[in-house]
Amino acid sequence: MQSNQKQYLWWQDGIIYQVYPRSYQDTNGDGVGDLRGVIQRLDYLKWLGIKAIWLSPIYPSPMADFGYDISDYRGIWPAFGSMADFDELLQAVHAAGMKIILDLVPNHSSDEHPWFLESRSSRDNPKRDWYIWKDAKADGSPPNNWLSVFGGSAWDWDEKTGQYYYHAFLVKQPDLNWRNPEVEKAILDVMRFWLDKGVDGFRVDAMWHMVKDLQWRDNPRNPDYKDWMGTYEQLLPVYSTDQPEMHGIVAQMRKVLDQYDQRLMIAEIYLPVHRLVAYYGVQEKEAHLPFNFMLISLPWDSRQIAAAIDEYEGVLAQDDQPNWVIGNHDQPRITSRVGAGQAKVAAMLLLTLRGTPTIYYGDEIGMRDVPIPPHEVRDPQGLNMPGKNLSRDPERTPMQWDDSINAGFTQGEPWLRLDRAFRRHNVKAEKSSDISSLHLYKKLIELRQQEPSLMTGAYRPVYSDHQLIAYIRQAEGQPGFLVVLNLTHRPCYFTPTTIRFTGVIVIDTLPEQEEVSVKDTINLFGDEGMVVKLDDWQSVSSNPPHELPVLP
Ligand code: GLC
Repeated sequence: MQSNQKQYLWWQDGIIYQVYPRSYQDTNGDGVGDLRGVIQRLDYLKWLGIKAIWLSPIYPSPMADFGYDISDYRGIWPAFGSMADFDELLQAVHAAGMKIILDLVPNHSSDEHPWFLESRSSRDNPKRDWYIWKDAKADGSPPNNWLSVFGGSAWDWDEKTGQYYYHAFLVKQPDLNWRNPEVEKAILDVMRFWLDKGVDGFRVDAMWHMVKDLQWRDNPRNPDYKDWMGTYEQLLPVYSTDQPEMHGIVAQMRKVLDQYDQRLMIAEIYLPVHRLVAYYGVQEKEAHLPFNFMLISLPWDSRQIAAAIDEYEGVLAQDDQPNWVIGNHDQPRITSRVGAGQAKVAAMLLLTLRGTPTIYYGDEIGMRDVPIPPHEVRDPQGLNMPGKNLSRDPERTPMQWDDSINAGFTQGEPWLRLDRAFRRHNVKAEKSSDISSLHLYKKLIELRQQEPSLMTGAYRPVYSDHQLIAYIRQAEGQPGFLVVLNLTHRPCYFTPTTIRFTGVIVIDTLPEQEEVSVKDTINLFGDEGMVVKLDDWQSVSSNPPHELPVLP
């Protein structure tokens, strides 16, 4: 039978899951996760129902920034395993019907990468211009006021060759010079190397940093800076990020991907929505999924979130695939940010909005940020700006698998301490509890993947106020689903004036409510979110229009 249903690609109807390999599963007792550990846990990921695994960097690295400082773009860090292990992982993932996305870090390399060693060896080395070298000002100070994301100036003085080099992140992460065509060629070749092996795509790190202002102008002061913020926030990165030339480069990267079958480019970009969507490409195709971090960046406030969702939905072009993120290895975990009750509401939001969701490992079992005593802090962001509580270690602690020693993560000494609550909060315990976070994730994923309306159907905002967000998802010819979320701890009342409906609650953050029939109005407990399968609904257009207030 001929179907005129639109066909979706794997990244349009599947779910992405981020693995931080260091913390997922150790198999050799060195306290650091490894690739064989990911192979060992593929059954779990398959069971959970995700489609693609994004691995944070696995390449050789001095680990100054835990792998985001790469010294060889085409290898595997020995503590993670060998290339043979990687090939086996790739094969096993594909055999399980899943996909692998690698982290690509094109903005900077390690200072121990042979390219940089050459570049810093002399001013006339052929690779000198592969990085960003500038003379000091007359008084010896750095070329401009740009700041490093990880604290202090973004310029480091090189005694030997008498120039500064630029590093948006650590001193040990010199920025590559993307205005040099040889750099572009080298990184595009790296992409081909992995694509030829069969990887299914890349998450491109720090994309909005890749090109810098040609005049190297000072960044303006940020009038909203507060002293608890990272020192980087003192300036607005107007000239050091998001330059117009970036789009031509992303288009080149996309062309490489498009020479292969169904490969994906995700882009890490922290920008306001109108700047973000430009990275889908205007004149040419660019990233498939510029990461949308609004659910991470906004306060947990229903009015602001509802407005942001509607703004995003409104600004996307017809073929732009939306995407949603509530956690990653750089941000406080959702459970710690909004509390355990609201983290379930957040999961429901993530998995019922239109677009591709990315789940951060451990969020599905409600893992929390783990307090790391000062002398155990490992993250350079925490170490470089002590006293600001900016370390990312708390959200990178080992995955909690079961109630055995070290939660089943390692037989050795874990590289970062585990949450003491792991005996209660672990995959094994949560699998057998029908009120657990994992149970909720599993149900939401299953329903989403079974129901075209939730997977790819249209999004229609229904109602929002200072507590609630409600919307309908519906694909053509399919039953609709009404999602009603209480973003507060207090009860609230959903009495929409815009629709009439009847339906049955199919998933609820409070499972007692499931299978209850509802009609037109719903009372919600605090921290309650529900997915209602609609038997019938219609919009009510007969309401008299509100009169405009008369201004004095
Ligand atoms: C990205 C990564 C972060 C890393 C930084 C520098 O923001 O997500 O973990 O520290 O880039 O590579």
